[in-house]
Amino acid sequence: MRALVLNGPNLNRLGKREPDAYGTFTLAELEHELEQFAFANGIELTCSQSNHEGEIIDWLQQAERQNFDGVVLNAGAYTHTSIAIRDAIASIQVPVIEVHISNVHKREEFRHHSCLAPVVEGQITGFGKDSYFLGLHALLLRNQRG
Ligand code: DQA
Repeated sequence: MRALVLNGPNLNRLGKREPDAYGTFTLAELEHELEQFAFANGIELTCSQSNHEGEIIDWLQQAERQNFDGVVLNAGAYTHTSIAIRDAIASIQVPVIEVHISNVHKREEFRHHSCLAPVVEGQITGFGKDSYFLGLHALLLRNQRG
């Protein structure tokens, strides 16, 4: 299985950014652990992070062209604002799992709404870095069931 983990704006700041909400692990540490998990589970993994909406859209479109089996996406604050990312997800056949480190429903009201929710396979929110591993698990199960 080929999977893409995409992180959106400000997630390059993990480790330094609001540790009460996001923990103290860095993006590099997270990606390293995800690569280990992927290797152990026969997943060919690509990880990318961008602060730019258009770049995330380009990568989602490429995911289809490059025949990825699934995407685990933490779109950060774009989750709550981006109709363009929503449309990109709706335009591709590749399943996308929306993940969040924090439980967005426990936080400010503006984080409760996701523009992406209606077009993703499902949402995983509030499990810290495990949200990404759960996202990859969901893709593995989906892939095994065909
Ligand atoms: C986040 C939650 C978003 O509301 C926030 O804007 C982020 C990170 C999370 O992983 O908990 O940047 O997606």
